[in-house]
Order: sequence, then C-alpha cells, then structure tokens
Amino acid sequence: MENVYEKLRRHVLSAGKTKKAYTKAYGCAQNEADMETLRGMIEIMGYEFTDDQSEADLITINTCAVREGAEDRIYGNVGAFKKLKEKNPDLIIVVSGCMTQQEKTVEKLKNSYPYVDIVFGTHGIEKFPERLLRRLETGKRILEIEEKSEIVEGLPMKRKEGASANVSIIYGCNNFCSYCIVPYARGRERSRSWESIVSEIEQLAKKGVTEITLLGQNVNSYGKDLEGGINFAQLLRKINEIEGIKRIRFMTSHPKDLSDELILAMAECDKVCKQLHLPVQAGSNRVLRDMNRKYTREDYLALVDRIRKAIPDITLTTDIIVGFPNETKEEFEDTLDIVKKVRYDGIFSFIYSKRSGTPAAKMPDVTPEKEKSENLTRLLEVQKEIQLEINKTYLGKTLEVLVDGTSKTDEQLLSGRTEGGKIVHFAGEKDLVGKYVNVKITSVKSFYLTGEIV
Ligand code: 5AD
Ligand code: SF4
Repeated sequence: MENVYEKLRRHVLSAGKTKKAYTKAYGCAQNEADMETLRGMIEIMGYEFTDDQSEADLITINTCAVREGAEDRIYGNVGAFKKLKEKNPDLIIVVSGCMTQQEKTVEKLKNSYPYVDIVFGTHGIEKFPERLLRRLETGKRILEIEEKSEIVEGLPMKRKEGASANVSIIYGCNNFCSYCIVPYARGRERSRSWESIVSEIEQLAKKGVTEITLLGQNVNSYGKDLEGGINFAQLLRKINEIEGIKRIRFMTSHPKDLSDELILAMAECDKVCKQLHLPVQAGSNRVLRDMNRKYTREDYLALVDRIRKAIPDITLTTDIIVGFPNETKEEFEDTLDIVKKVRYDGIFSFIYSKRSGTPAAKMPDVTPEKEKSENLTRLLEVQKEIQLEINKTYLGKTLEVLVDGTSKTDEQLLSGRTEGGKIVHFAGEKDLVGKYVNVKITSVKSFYLTGEIV
C-alpha cells in the first residue's frame, strides 16, 4: 500500500501546486463514518481539502439510498459535475456508498454519466487508493461493485475536530424490514472485535475526545456474529471504564433486540448517557407486521415502561414512517396514539418511499399522497406541542452542556448538548467549544433550550 500512496503523492504534488479534494457524505452517520475513512486516505495522498467544488481536482461523494428524495438530490448533484469536468478535464469524480451498491445505479452512471471516473459501493472501501491510482495510470473508468466484505481494521480516518467522535461497532443489517434498502446496500451484520473498538476509543480519548457515539444499523445485535465475542451490554461496560471518556451514546437500537441486560448496563454505567433512540416506525399492529418489525405496539410500550422504570429521567427519540402501503386513517391514528403515550423528546419522521427490490415495493398502495403528507403535518404538529411541554419542565434547571460550536441561528451564541441530547443556546466565549459548562435554562422552544452559564 505504501507504494500506492507514494505514487499518488507524486501525482498530487506534481505541476508545482498541491491538488485539492472536495468530499461529501449524504445520509446516515455510518455513511459519514465511511467518508471519514476515505478522507483519511485522501489526506495521506497529500490532497488539501476544499469546500469549493469548482476548485477541486478530486470530488468524492458517498451516497444514500434510504429514500427516493435522497437519490434524486444526489443525481442532481452528480449531473452538475459535468460542467466542472468540462472546465477541468483532469478532475477525478468518485461516487460510492449505498446507491452505487445497487446494479441499476451503476448501469445509470455507466451509461448516462460518462464523466464519473470511479464507482464502488459500500464494500471494499480500503481499495480506494489502488483504484484511484489505476484510474490515473490507465485513464480507464473503474466501476467495481463487490458483493460483500470483511472488516478491515487500521484504516486511516480523518475525523471532524472536536470533543465528539463516532465509532462504528457493527456494519450491515440482518433485519430486512420490508421497506428498507439497507440490508441490500450494506450486507449482513459484521461486528468489530471489542479489542479494536476499545483500543480505538482509548486513542481518541488520548487526543482529547470525551464524547463517543457508537454506530451500527442495529447496535443491539453487536457480537452475535462473533465466536466467543461479547454482547453489546458487555461492550458498554468495557467502554465505560475508559479513562478520559465522559459521555457514551449509541444508535440505532432495534426494539426487538433491546435486552433487559442492556437496560441494566445503561442504568449502571455512569458515562452512558440517559438517552435512547428507539425507532418505532408505526403504531398499528397490522403495519408493524407488514413492515416485518417483529414486535407489536403492546411489546413496544411495555419495553418503554421497563426502560423508564430502570432509568426514570431518560430522553427518548424515535423514527416514524408515515404512509406505509395502505396505511388507513385509523392505522395512522394508532401512530399518533403511540406518540402521545410515549411522549418522545424528538422524532424523525418520513413519508414512506418505495425502494425497488424490497418486499414492500410489491405491496399495492391505494393511500393518496395528499393524505400521507397531511398525516405527516399532523404528526409534526402533535409532536411539536409535546416537545414544548417536555422542554418547559427544564425551565430554571441547571444542566451540564458539552459545547459544540456557535449556534446555527445566532452567531453570537454558543450551542451545545445536554446528556439527554437537548440542544442548548447560551452566551459565552468561543474558547469554551469542546468543554463542559453548566447552563441554567431561562427559556425554551420546541426544538431547543436557551440559558446562561452559571
Ligand atoms: N421510506 C421512508 N423511510 C424509510 N426509512 C428507512 N427506509 C425507508 C423508506 N423506504 C427510515 C426509517 C429508518 C430511518 C433511518 O429511515 O424510519 O429508521
Ligand atoms: Fe433498515 Fe430495519 Fe435494518 Fe434499520 S433495522 S437498517 S430499518 S432493515
């Protein structure tokens, strides 16, 4: 590999100026994490990073296929690269990720986007440097999609600077929810060894990282594919021992796999944030069954009860799909009912998007699109009200906040997150970014709290 990097470095530094790379990841945190690996490789190649596509010599995007809207946007963006390539014929364009793991996307890119140079999927990203070199040496397009991959440890990573870092613990998904493309795009579950995970987090802690988010499509399956491995609850307990780490978060948890052992570990580990993302997806048992979620609304509500008994002040968030094939008005009411019963601290809601190749794509659907979007609007209204009521209970309380940066809505204010993941805005010096401060909450909105440092 060293030799490949040396050759690439010569290319990047040729012609008296350093070449520039533009990178972008779409979709979920896992895609972002894969991009951090690609960026790590690009950094070793010697490229400088730029946010300006028009001055880039290398453009690499990691795509998302979870909903049609994401795909359309990505095709639009790739279409716009054509002009850049006309201006700079030496520009190399790389497209990878969940979209390109599918044959139909590769065919489309191959035939209709001839200026895209390198295409690969979610597997085998460690081959990126070798593919880039091959493209430079032969001038030929490279479209190489692999069926599956083993975990490769020790790849470089260029993470965002700051006190927080994401760490993948399990790749892929075995659940095959009937609407979801992820099991096809990311393959079967593969867990990293706990030794590699712990050693990566120890290294991060040495560099000043204090908040870790463990990533996986279903973290609760962690270790099930490893012989003699440990389970997720045991992994949390090991990470809880790592010096320098203050907060441990994880996502995503499938309700059917959330064990009492894990609830106990969350309650007992002082660094594990009292916060849980627990996608419910829908509130009707017919819809849940056809989604292949493998739990009923009663199972889910009982699970929430168990969690709240063990960890009374936990904040809960969820994902909800509105308009799954043939969802009736009454079935949607069941979703609203769950939202009102659980009283989530936040929801991520989406209108169902048909993904070809999934079982749900073959289900006839007569629910009009207008009804689906009206339902989504109603859901958002109900949730907004609940969130405001919950947030009001924080008025006057003092919360520990990890400062992320400046607020997106007001540059004068800092923004950070509580243990429960609530966004807090407050006045303070920029050198507090990356530090923990105590903030007394003075006013609240549905989507954030405002306060003053005490
Ligand atoms: N349509 C709409 N939403 C989807 N999700 C996954 N697949 C689809 C789809 N086909 C949502 C689920 C999942 C989140 C990451 O994206 O709610 O939890
Ligand atoms: Fe998709 Fe279901 Fe796997 Fe989540 S658990 S990635 S929704 S198949």
